[in-house]
Amino acid sequence: MNSQTRGVVEFRTAGGTGARYHLELYFVCGDLPDLAAGVYHYATDDHSLRQLRGGDLRGAVVEASGNAPRLAQAPVILAMTSTFWRNAWRYKARAYRHTYWDTGTSLANLLAVAASLELPTELVLGYADAGINALLGVDGESEATVALCALGSGGSAPPVPASISSIAHPIAPVSSAEVIFDDIPRMHAASSLASGSEAAAWRQNPLVRTPKPSARPPIRLTPLPDANLPSAPIEDIILARRSTRNYDTQTPISFEAFSTLLDRSVRGFAADCLVPGAPPLHDGYLIVNAVEGLEPGLYLHRASEVAIELIRSGDFRAQAAHLAFDQQYAADAHVNSYYLTDLAPVLEHYGNRGYRLAQVEAALYAGRLHLAAHALGLGAVGSTSFDDEVTDFFSPPAAGASFMFVTVFGGRRRRTHGDAG
Ligand SMILES: Cc1cc2nc3c(=O)[nH]c(=O)nc-3n(C[C@H](O)[C@H](O)[C@H](O)COP(=O)(O)O)c2cc1C
Repeated sequence: MNSQTRGVVEFRTAGGTGARYHLELYFVCGDLPDLAAGVYHYATDDHSLRQLRGGDLRGAVVEASGNAPRLAQAPVILAMTSTFWRNAWRYKARAYRHTYWDTGTSLANLLAVAASLELPTELVLGYADAGINALLGVDGESEATVALCALGSGGSAPPVPASISSIAHPIAPVSSAEVIFDDIPRMHAASSLASGSEAAAWRQNPLVRTPKPSARPPIRLTPLPDANLPSAPIEDIILARRSTRNYDTQTPISFEAFSTLLDRSVRGFAADCLVPGAPPLHDGYLIVNAVEGLEPGLYLHRASEVAIELIRSGDFRAQAAHLAFDQQYAADAHVNSYYLTDLAPVLEHYGNRGYRLAQVEAALYAGRLHLAAHALGLGAVGSTSFDDEVTDFFSPPAAGASFMFVTVFGGRRRRTHGDAG
């Protein structure tokens, strides 16, 4: 490519399945010192906010959420949507899974930035889908709200919502034609909530699970003390983050780095439907290929004990590559971090919407792990896997659990001329 044809390629700051970037951001705010109250869309192409509605309409979101307490105090509410076709044209119905993988991955960035600004947040997954979609002016089928997040606290109480008129923004078509993969609208409708009162009832009975007791003696992790953690601003880490597929297979990563990544990425997050401090819905399973002082093998992460437990020792690089959809980087990486969730109790407590929650939760933890890897000078990449084979591979302890997400990480190999990617 010569300099005349060279153009700018825009990337998003968060990774996403196949770089299909199907997520959009909207903000609903009261009057802010430098922004008038309204509903705004964030346009990634020119980094601007466009007002879709004027006035303080946060009350409409609060109502649709069944009065989620933190939303009512938030000066700004973020709404994330997915335009399914932008992923589905490549991945067909599996795009529905990617929807929540990518949502969680992006939310990891958002929560990390908010934390560095000391801005309280709460993820809200309980809301009347149609009510929020109507407020944003999206149709709920081709583009639908997938998550809300309260940003900040101490905002003035939002006014009681007036009736919401319909709006329709002109949207540039993504392609000349669109295929509807029926499973996507079906799954989305089956996990939708109809009203604020349904949303309030939905979060009434959160799951507090008891992780299985240890079967083997724990191996204590030794995370770096706070004083030794890298001090780079989160914005720099986010901008430097990318997906790493080349790993230095000759040099193991240190046990301290491994410990720090595991320990730091499992700190919980506030959500309307989760009990603060409760164990996550998933269990963390690890394929350890090359960590200093650690036998290669399969391990279970005992987050609350800041420990891991050996399941099976051995060299599982070949199996790691196969499980990760026959992609070599999983064999080369130092660690593969799998997130598996026993969906039966999740669905019992949360109904079909528990599926959205389980995917987002695991993806958010994994997104954090990815950022933390970069903070420590390592690399990581999310991956597709052969779902059911993952459960078999980590069984017996994983029997009955379902694959939610995997991120592999390790020391980066310097790219040499001729590397593919
Ligand atoms: C949930 C998820 C799954 C992914 N799966 C794969 C994969 O199976 N193979 C792969 O090479 N990259 C995978 N990626 C990486 C994406 O291709 C990558 O995020 C995207 O191309 C953007 O590049 P960047 O992460 O370097 O910004 C995955 C990313 C995410 C978030």
